[in-house]
This record gives sequence, C-alpha cells and structure tokens, in this order.
Amino acid sequence: MLNFQDKYSEYLAIFNSRLEKFCSELDCKPDILAESIKYTLINGGKRVRPVLMLATGELIGADKESLSDFALALELIHTYSLIHDDLPEMDNDDFRRGKPSSHKVFGAGNAVLAGDGLLNTAYAILFDCCKRGREYADAAKFLCDCAGINGMVAGQSADLYCEKNAICDEEWLEYIVLNKTAKLITAATTVPSVLKGGRYFLELKQFGEDLGRLFQIVDDILDVKGSFEKMGKTLGKDKNENKLTYVNFYGMDESCVYADIIYDKCIKILDGIDADTEFLKQFVSFVRHRDT
Ligand code: IPE
Ligand code: IPE
Ligand code: MG
Ligand code: MG
Ligand code: MG
Repeated sequence: MLNFQDKYSEYLAIFNSRLEKFCSELDCKPDILAESIKYTLINGGKRVRPVLMLATGELIGADKESLSDFALALELIHTYSLIHDDLPEMDNDDFRRGKPSSHKVFGAGNAVLAGDGLLNTAYAILFDCCKRGREYADAAKFLCDCAGINGMVAGQSADLYCEKNAICDEEWLEYIVLNKTAKLITAATTVPSVLKGGRYFLELKQFGEDLGRLFQIVDDILDVKGSFEKMGKTLGKDKNENKLTYVNFYGMDESCVYADIIYDKCIKILDGIDADTEFLKQFVSFVRHRDT
C-alpha cells in the first residue's frame, strides 16, 4: 500500500488534471475576469476537500469521473469563499495562498466578481452532472445546500454578526463552525455516499461534520501558533478582531484538548465503516497535526 503522502499526491494528480482542463477552457471578456479567477485558484491551496471527496469515493466505489467534476465544483466554491472572506468588509486580510489577496491585486470590485464567477461556474458544472441521473441531481443539491444560506454562507454571516456584536457564546461558536467550515467538508465526505444511493450516509455525514470541526479548531490554533510562510495567509488577527474562535473562547490549552477529543471521535466513526479506512484515518491525523 502507498504511504499517505504518495496516496494524497495520487488524488491530487486526478484533481489537477480536471482543474487544468477547466482552466484551459476558461474564456472571459474582459481578460481580468479569467485572470483574477485563475490567480487564486491555481498554484495554491492544500486541496483538502477534493482529495477527501476522491478518497471517500474510492472507499465506497463511487463513479470516479463524476467525482472529479463534483470535486472541482467544490473547490471552486471553497476558493470563492476565501476570496470573499478576505475582503476589507469581511476579514480584511492581505494574504492568501502565499500571495497578496485577490482584492489587493485586482481591487475589491474585481475580487467580488472573481468569487461570483467561481460560484456560478461551479453551479454550471453541477447542472451538467445532474443530467447523469437522479443520484447525481441529489448529490448536487446536497452540495448546494452545504454551500448556501443554510451552510457556508450562514456560517460566514454568523461569524460577522458575532464579531460586530461582540458575542461570546458557545452555541454561536458551534453554529459558526458547523456552517462556515464543516459544511463544505461534509459535502466532500457525503456527496460520494449520495451518488452510491446513501451508502454509509449517516457515518460519512457525521465524519464530515467532526472532521470539519477539527479542521477549524486547528485553523484557530494555527492563527496563534502557525507560521506565515507555511500557512501562506495573514495570521494573528482573530484575537485583535475579537473573532468568536475556539482559542478566543476556550483558550489555547483547552482548544488543543478539544481537538484531541474530536480527533478520537473521527477515528471512532471510521472504525464503524466496514471498508479500508486507513487513508482517511491518516487524513484525520494530517488535519490534527498540520502546520500548513
Ligand atoms: C481555509 O481553508 C479556510 C478555512 C476553512 C479555515 P484551507 O486551509 O483548506 O485553505 P486552502 O484551500 O488550503 O488555501
Ligand atoms: C473562513 O474561516 C472559512 C470560510 C468559509 C472561508 P477563517 O476566516 O478562519 O479562514 P481563514 O483563517 O481566513 O483562512
Ligand atoms: Mg472568516
Ligand atoms: Mg478569514
Ligand atoms: Mg482562520
């Protein structure tokens, strides 16, 4: 069996070839639209969501070609969320994926439009997937719900609301994280299940929610402890901006304890799946111990 890094690279190669095809077909007038879309999309990002989707798909035997379309749509939506998240009116961050943020290079108006373009294109890809059959339409709908007003967008809205109103409340914290981060990660683990008629649906949905929670706890920890060179984005602002994060709410030590508890929960869920979950277990470990 391949080691974790090699297997990750294998999934990455599948995703990258679909991404390259997408970029080579991108044709916009004016050029700045395609340029700003590609600027944030290419050469950056860990591609955690597409890799997770492809790996989960392999685990339960979902159709690989369709999954690379779903994985592309998911990464386009994630990338749009990052461009908008960095805008001056949101987190006001100057760096993303190791480079100046979209709005620093192209201006806020073009950054908004790059995000809008990514989102609309993701939907166009998903509409094409829907033509393949009922399960594909169900899976596309699931992904849209995870991204929309009861998913990532709701989480981002709650994040801003709590920041502006100085809300420091556990229920709001969980609501923010479940939606702004865990929903897109849940889409990665659950879309393959929907494509396979609901195989391991509850397990994979719960796994996505907990892995997403773990992902954000670690993101909050790294905002304090991480290095700018490795993370490629602005750090240290959660405290100053009074963000409702795990570290601001529980403190650093308790956040690390919480991360370990959620780590164990993720592994336990995988133990309940009767298939080879070794790669996914290593993926959980990567999320817990990452510094990128
Ligand atoms: C950053 O996501 C936003 C959060 C949900 C914390 P990633 O850490 O996956 O960002 P990229 O895609 O690797 O840049
Ligand atoms: C953002 O969370 C999650 C998104 C939906 C983009 P953060 O605001 O903590 O993400 P970073 O730290 O800027 O990547
Ligand atoms: Mg944010
Ligand atoms: Mg941010
Ligand atoms: Mg953060």
